[in-house]
Amino acid sequence: MADPLIGVRRVGIAGLGRYVPEKILSNADLEKFVDTSDEWIVQRTGIKERRIAAKDQYTSTLAVAAAQQALDDAGMKGEEIELVICATVTGDQPFPATACRVGMEIGAKNAGGFDLAAACSGFVFATQVASNMIASGQYSKILVCGAEILSRILDYKDRNTCVLFGDGAGAAIFTTLDIAQRGEYLGGSISMKGGAEDVLAQPGGGSRHPASLDSIEQRLHFMKMGGTKVFRFAVRVFAGLVRDVIEKYGKDEIGVIIPHQVNQRIIESAMDQAGLPMDMVFCNINKYGNTSAASVAIALREAYDAGRLEKGKLVVMPAFGAGMSWGHTLLRW
Ligand SMILES: CC(C)(COP(=O)(O)OP(=O)(O)OC[C@H]1O[C@@H](n2cnc3c(N)ncnc32)[C@H](O)[C@@H]1OP(=O)(O)O)[C@@H](O)C(=O)NCCC(=O)NCCS
Repeated sequence: MADPLIGVRRVGIAGLGRYVPEKILSNADLEKFVDTSDEWIVQRTGIKERRIAAKDQYTSTLAVAAAQQALDDAGMKGEEIELVICATVTGDQPFPATACRVGMEIGAKNAGGFDLAAACSGFVFATQVASNMIASGQYSKILVCGAEILSRILDYKDRNTCVLFGDGAGAAIFTTLDIAQRGEYLGGSISMKGGAEDVLAQPGGGSRHPASLDSIEQRLHFMKMGGTKVFRFAVRVFAGLVRDVIEKYGKDEIGVIIPHQVNQRIIESAMDQAGLPMDMVFCNINKYGNTSAASVAIALREAYDAGRLEKGKLVVMPAFGAGMSWGHTLLRW
């Protein structure tokens, strides 16, 4: 784990936002498409419902709504933002970056921007990129979004995947700690192990399997997943990341753990392995399912609204996903 930043600018969070589409897809609704049941889904995952974007909403639409709430929370205007980072694997299109449209729609006239593709780890990785760019002095106000419309890449004939995921967006504004006055960035980690395209991926549409009649017939543009492998990996890395924080800071310093909202059973198993009680975790998986890069961002804003971010205590955000990739961001609220 990286040391707290020393001899550079201290960084904090000035504003948080989240947005989820209005349409709810319940487990009972899914029973109409695939051979599944509310009982199976709740027992195996803890998910009761998820949100689905409307036809005229794009990933940028969701990100802009979350970003607007984060700007209001920070008391900032879009034009003050200097850089937009949008973590997503379901951008408006492969290019240009979704960040470009987000920046334009919030009025960030002078900002730079780019997308960051690290699947479910995306927001947690992007928060570290943003924090270090502010710590270095290169930028002072960065908008980080985690936004996904996973429903557009889900195969609603595949019960192994379609029940697990949903749509949504979250956003955070990073700035220097003297302005933000809360959410000090203490460090984090970014890890990966390649070669897992058969474990969790959207195989079609890139240079490996460009779009063709064949790729469509083989349904390669939909998400594919080997659930059991992901389950074991997620429990192991999540528990390991939390144990590292405990070793360095002590259990009592932790105020709340806001993990990637992947599956209630994965979260419970990892907390058990880390030797921590479930009441230290913030969970909203029952309402939204897994929203990939948006999940930690949405949960962070909801934990804030629920009064779960305790002044002076650590906020631990572990995430993991396709790649395989995993890492965490550590804040002191
Ligand atoms: C997918 C997952 C919920 C399956 O749970 P599980 O306890 O491993 O499931 P089991 O092994 O007991 O059961 C698998 C069986 O359930 C079936 N099944 C899968 N999805 C189902 C569904 N939605 N409804 C009913 N049955 C389903 C499978 O076809 C399989 O049937 P079979 O044994 O006849 O082949 C679990 O592996 C998981 O959550 N993995 C992580 C996935 C994830 O979160 N990915 C994103 C990571 S970022």
